[in-house]
Amino acid sequence: MLNKDPGSNVGHRRTAAPALKRARPFLKWVGGKGRVLPQLQPLLPTSFERYFEPFIGGGAMFFALRPPTTELWDINSELINCYRVIRDQVEELISALRLHRYEKDYYYALRSLDPATLGPVARAARTICLNRTGFNGLYRVNRSGNFNVPFGRYTNPTICDAPNLRLCQRALSQVRLETEDFEALDERAKAGDFVYFDPPYVPRSPTSAFTSYSAVGFKLHDQQRLAALFTRLSERGVKLMLSNSDVPLVHELYQEFRIDLIQASRNVNARADRRGAVSEVVVRNY
Ligand SMILES: C[S@@+](CC[C@H](N)C(=O)[O-])C[C@H]1O[C@@H](n2cnc3c(N)ncnc32)[C@H](O)[C@@H]1O
Repeated sequence: MLNKDPGSNVGHRRTAAPALKRARPFLKWVGGKGRVLPQLQPLLPTSFERYFEPFIGGGAMFFALRPPTTELWDINSELINCYRVIRDQVEELISALRLHRYEKDYYYALRSLDPATLGPVARAARTICLNRTGFNGLYRVNRSGNFNVPFGRYTNPTICDAPNLRLCQRALSQVRLETEDFEALDERAKAGDFVYFDPPYVPRSPTSAFTSYSAVGFKLHDQQRLAALFTRLSERGVKLMLSNSDVPLVHELYQEFRIDLIQASRNVNARADRRGAVSEVVVRNY
């Protein structure tokens, strides 16, 4: 049988040897781009110098692209700690994860630990375990910054996916990681670099807001700061692509740029009638 996978050596015969596996996001992340990647990839620039992703979340785009020179940022310090520990201490992390269990009481005991009292490896293992065993893989914190997602119901969830963590380690080995607000990019990105922005989305309706990845949330003012940064970076010759919801505010904020629509399926909403396909915008300056 001919191997027709995109990106593989088309025409080479498939043998008994397993195909080289790609790293996948090691966390489930609301807004994860895994399912819409086939629609986003044709919209990427054909060439660029460095790659920046300032709202990294689960990192689906980065793991699919694996550009050689990369900086990944997020304001969520627990998340960036996970990426750092995977990059620098993956075997210690795997050992720590193997000690974790899928049990309701265990989950709530682990959740109640203050991450600031743990070392980096135990802290990353806690976040990954809570993500794999918590409700829907949500990451949500209350106003004081405490993780408050309830226990999730699964059949035998995988807490430690060691092969994938090792693949992630390889993908991250040369990557610079920062816990930063996106606006710090103003100081870093230069002409020829490419930035993919996947911010918390503008809510489609007042009840569909999901902006609690961090204790401070992501407000209208942040969407305006982001659009202003997009314009400044564009004027400087940085290549830019941004995802957001297909609502009038987003069209207004980015009216001077090229806007394409893609179809995404959303299942974050508790109400079944609000799930299903919705359009999203992809804004570009090239
Ligand atoms: C929609 S998610 C990104 C999803 C990601 N692209 C994926 O594929 O999983 C948005 C991310 O923005 C981060 N974030 C929120 N406010 C931020 C800020 N001011 N600066 C940088 N990151 C921020 C959140 O912690 C969250 O991880």
